[in-house]
Amino acid sequence: MNSFHRHGDALRCEECPLADLAEIYGTPLYVYSMAALEENFNAYRDAFSPADPLICYSVKSNGNLAVLRAMAGLGAGADIVSGGELFRALTAGIDPGRIVYSGAGKRADELRMALDAGIRMFNVESEPELLLLSRIAASAGKTADISLRINPDIDSGTHRYTATGGKETKFGVPEADAPALYRKAASLPGINPTGIDVHLGSQITDIAPYRLAMERLVALAETLRASGIDCRVLDIGGGAGISYNGEKTVTPADLAGVAIPAAESAGCALVLEPGRSIAGNAGILLTRITHVKRGAGKTFYICDAGMNDLMRPPLYGSYHRIEPVADDGGGAVITADIVGPVCETADFLALGRAIPECREGELLAVMDAGAYGFSMSSNYNARPRAAEVMVSGRKHRFVRSRETYDDLVRNEMIFA
Ligand code: LLP
Repeated sequence: MNSFHRHGDALRCEECPLADLAEIYGTPLYVYSMAALEENFNAYRDAFSPADPLICYSVKSNGNLAVLRAMAGLGAGADIVSGGELFRALTAGIDPGRIVYSGAGKRADELRMALDAGIRMFNVESEPELLLLSRIAASAGKTADISLRINPDIDSGTHRYTATGGKETKFGVPEADAPALYRKAASLPGINPTGIDVHLGSQITDIAPYRLAMERLVALAETLRASGIDCRVLDIGGGAGISYNGEKTVTPADLAGVAIPAAESAGCALVLEPGRSIAGNAGILLTRITHVKRGAGKTFYICDAGMNDLMRPPLYGSYHRIEPVADDGGGAVITADIVGPVCETADFLALGRAIPECREGELLAVMDAGAYGFSMSSNYNARPRAAEVMVSGRKHRFVRSRETYDDLVRNEMIFA
């Protein structure tokens, strides 16, 4: 099923014409499809069903409460990386016993908050973090179930800013140091080593790095068991890369094909942390062309959404398909830079893009923007952040209202 599809000339989300949503809610507007969220989650549940894994939806990809509540309803847990994400997950009703906590720089107050909440597992990324967690847990009379996040130094072929499994990154514990650190963990008060964790990176489109990582983790589980440390959880980190421009990528079934046998041979239960492959194609960014500007040998479609709304194109050079909301397929195609109103040359949604000729006032849909879209947005240039709308069938409603100018200055005060 494709939740964003054309009905005649008009692009729709499920049964709602996007032009109607723009009229009702204004632009720029994030629009999410409940059916797509469910379908994407269920693809993991089905592919991994023989292993009955804990699927921890990655809050950072899209932490809107409505999305998180939908995930909770489907039985998902959460992968969090901050106290704020823990707060979001708990507020949305996600069971704390289904939450895992990763991140290289967890603060004491965040660790305490997660311990108090009773989360499932801390994915510890360094010795200092381990010692801090031990002190906090012991003084609270609690025991924290932990895994160590292993940095296996594997090139996952993704953009260097979204690769986390290489030794030059800040993430995880070098594989060679892991056995000693596990032994130390086992000796510390308040710490119970229960798992092994890895996260190679995001937007990985090849299964080979996962296969390599799984082989290494299975071997590590055996080494640890031989020294009396019995880890029974294997957390394989984030999910599949998605196809932004028709490119081939991995599927949940491909991941299951390598992870399930690995977990079986290691005698471990599986944890997964998918984000992008659940929220990515379930959302679009709807924007209106405010000006068509003919530059020196170039056409600019200047839109009301900019880099503050969707950072991915300037930050990673990411490609998002962009489609006119009304398109009969018969018009001329031109090449244009599709840009925002922000005062930066980096403020673009697409450069040199072939796109049907559009007029001022027309709507564009920036596709596959449901993950790392709104969650990375900012108020740069004092732009109130976009609103978010959830669609289910014919129903639609705000799941985040549009910020106001008052919101922009709410936490500020004059120094006098
Ligand atoms: N687990 C951990 C520990 C992570 O760091 C991440 C993503 C995930 C899970 C979820 O990975 P996914 O299933 O979404 O691939 N802003 C970038 C992506 C950064 C991803 C950071 N970590 C982008 O827009 O491409």
